[in-house]
Amino acid sequence: MKRVAILISGGGSNMVKLVQDMVGDHPARAVLVASNDPAAKGLARAAEMGVAVASVDHRGFGKDRVAFEAALLEPILAAKPDILCLAGFMRVLTPAFVRRFEGRMLNIHPSLLPKYPGLHTHARALAAGDAEAGCTVHEVTAVLDDGPILGQARVPVLPGDDEAALAARVLVQEHRLYPAVLRRYAAGLHERLDL
Ligand code: GAR
Repeated sequence: MKRVAILISGGGSNMVKLVQDMVGDHPARAVLVASNDPAAKGLARAAEMGVAVASVDHRGFGKDRVAFEAALLEPILAAKPDILCLAGFMRVLTPAFVRRFEGRMLNIHPSLLPKYPGLHTHARALAAGDAEAGCTVHEVTAVLDDGPILGQARVPVLPGDDEAALAARVLVQEHRLYPAVLRRYAAGLHERLDL
């Protein structure tokens, strides 16, 4: 059984879907949900599901990413994860942190990478007049929102869409894609999945 730690920064809706999927014959189990924000709503949701939680407030470390990551590493290493899933984790990780989990850290990003790495993905897709949008699960490398793509799901951009409407349509697909990719990844399947 693979051990999965999940990093969140907010509501954690993707985290909830991952945890809910890791039951029965799933090859992995959630062992920790950790956040850079002690007030992240997802922490309470994880605890309700019986998953261990931890938080390290990044604001206490100023610009010192290395010190923040050292503190965040403590609960993560104690949980002995085989796989680390970023699920709406909104801090950029240093290359040293990424290297430590290289080949076993996944991220979900709300765009069809390589389009729109970084923030405001839906606004940028709308501004570009794109006919479709979507989400990507990829392996994390030292380059932000880069790394081998493990899966993508697409949605149409519809007339009258605003950022919130498009984000909501994409999020529905995130909730399908991430559990599907993690289930395969934990079983050792790294081929790309397109939903
Ligand atoms: C999701 O849409 C995720 O793709 C995005 O944040 C949201 C988190 O929602 N992640 C990023 O933008 C990463 N750069 P959630 O907390 O409800 O899962």
